[in-house]
Amino acid sequence: MTSVVHFATPPAHDPRVITDRRAFIVANTRLQAPPHTPELMLQLADEITPIWKLTEEELGEMGLPPPFWAFAWAGGQALARYLLDNPQEVAGQRVVDFATGSGIVAIAAAKAGAADVLAADIDGFCGAAVALNTAANRVAVRFTDANLLDAAPPAVDLICAGDICYEKPLAEQVMAWLQAARAAGTRVLIGDPGRSYFPKSGLEQLAEYQVPTTRELEDMEVKRTSVWALP
Ligand SMILES: C[S@@+](CC[C@H](N)C(=O)[O-])C[C@H]1O[C@@H](n2cnc3c(N)ncnc32)[C@H](O)[C@@H]1O
Repeated sequence: MTSVVHFATPPAHDPRVITDRRAFIVANTRLQAPPHTPELMLQLADEITPIWKLTEEELGEMGLPPPFWAFAWAGGQALARYLLDNPQEVAGQRVVDFATGSGIVAIAAAKAGAADVLAADIDGFCGAAVALNTAANRVAVRFTDANLLDAAPPAVDLICAGDICYEKPLAEQVMAWLQAARAAGTRVLIGDPGRSYFPKSGLEQLAEYQVPTTRELEDMEVKRTSVWALP
């Protein structure tokens, strides 16, 4: 005798409407190297508008944040470049990559010899994107979709944050959280291309790069981007 299990149909706004996020990512992005970190391969989109619209259509929801996970942002590219070129920053260290997006900084940290890497992002697609991207680069990275800002910063050796100062409330909250981490003895590295809400002072500049980007994303083809440490 066969038994039939009936599943309730999720409402249109339910994220489960995209049943297989991995398949969605593979179908709508392509494996490619970000220009500033040619040694990494990530599932990235070539244009933002089509994949953003597709995500909204699939989820049945408008006004969603952009699919950040489908792009290697200038801040993340710079910070990943810095870690790959300065493996002494991460070798043997416990690392958190806050706001990981595609996982670019987490993957660079793992490649550069970190002992343990936790990638964190609250976007519902990031878990699948990070899983695909870590596999493509043959590195191990753990992932959490918990909002780490809701608690005290974790007791790790290094917290990385690529491109997190694009909105005022988030930038203020993240910078306060990162300051708390630093006060507790954690090293904090930030990659930022001069976003509007990035603090203008009080940080130590470690490197500056000319990061290739696209006119569609940034309205320019190259973005001057720096890596900073909290002193
Ligand atoms: C501009 S993207 C940067 C992604 C990646 N670090 C890079 O540079 O390519 C910003 C990311 O911050 C994430 N984010 C926003 N608020 C967050 C929070 N409270 N916790 C974790 N991630 C968050 C977004 O989901 C998005 O993936």
